[in-house]
Amino acid sequence: MKNLLSMNDLSIKELVEIIKFTEEIKRYPDEYGEELKGKTLVMIFERPSTRTRISFESAMLQLGGHTIDVTRDSTQLERGETIADSAKVLSRYVDAIVARVDRHDTLTELAKNSSVPVINGLSDLEHPCQAISDLFTVYEIKGELKGINISYIGDGNNVCHSLLLGCAMTGMNLKVASPKGYEPKRYILNSAVKISKKTGCTIEVINDPNEAVRDADFIYTDVWVSMGHEKEEEKRVEVFKKYQINQRILANAKKDCKVMHCLPAHRGMEITDDVLDGPNSIVWDQAENRLHAQKAILLKLLK
Ligand code: CP
Ligand code: NVA
Repeated sequence: MKNLLSMNDLSIKELVEIIKFTEEIKRYPDEYGEELKGKTLVMIFERPSTRTRISFESAMLQLGGHTIDVTRDSTQLERGETIADSAKVLSRYVDAIVARVDRHDTLTELAKNSSVPVINGLSDLEHPCQAISDLFTVYEIKGELKGINISYIGDGNNVCHSLLLGCAMTGMNLKVASPKGYEPKRYILNSAVKISKKTGCTIEVINDPNEAVRDADFIYTDVWVSMGHEKEEEKRVEVFKKYQINQRILANAKKDCKVMHCLPAHRGMEITDDVLDGPNSIVWDQAENRLHAQKAILLKLLK
């Protein structure tokens, strides 16, 4: 693995190794305090971030390295220096680049011109760091991934895309329930289904959220209005109304099913307060795991 732009950049073996490595790092954090001594990570964020930015920054610090956090307008990117030229220059200064971008093409261009690893900190297409961490969260609870049932309810977005690929790779059964017209991209679904045939799991996209949660061990949701779609908010709130994770939906699921959300949550929209703060919710542990998983990703790419 040279870059992590998509879950497709990982082999199944590498993904499983990162998940197991995350467990090891979470259990023995002090063993890794010097591992990235002298290493620098530059973080380019074109969009806001709490978890990704701060977990990467803390991860680097706790591994002995350090970060430089920039935005488009704090660099010459703002005045038109190209992504390609910027990537060539940054590669001479730092050991890795994390970027959160409006368009996935920006990441591809960065990676093409960078001699150091490039990590996707979220794009319009994928959020692989989130998916890796989420798979670890499930693994931590269940001790395995193969055969576990997970349902994703809501927008077929970046988080959903990486989850589709990650579940297929690790043999988890995934049911996505999205409104018509908001399903995940067909080519990513096809790629996940192809992988699932090899790993022996089922990947389905349906429209009925109640049916999707029926046998779920985990229910996952994300915002209805992702960054960049703000203009569609009014329409989306109407279209997604039936996809809210609330007590009525939970009543159709297993009593002990766990509820996941990548956060930030829009309370009262895709999830109600009583579910997010209730006994089925594992969102805070899920958020914490970003830190441990980020360390595993950094060590895999930089060591
Ligand atoms: N889940 C996630 O990536 O959160 P941030 O947008 O805060 O980084
Ligand atoms: N799908 C959301 C995820 C935020 C972490 C977005 O792209 O805004």
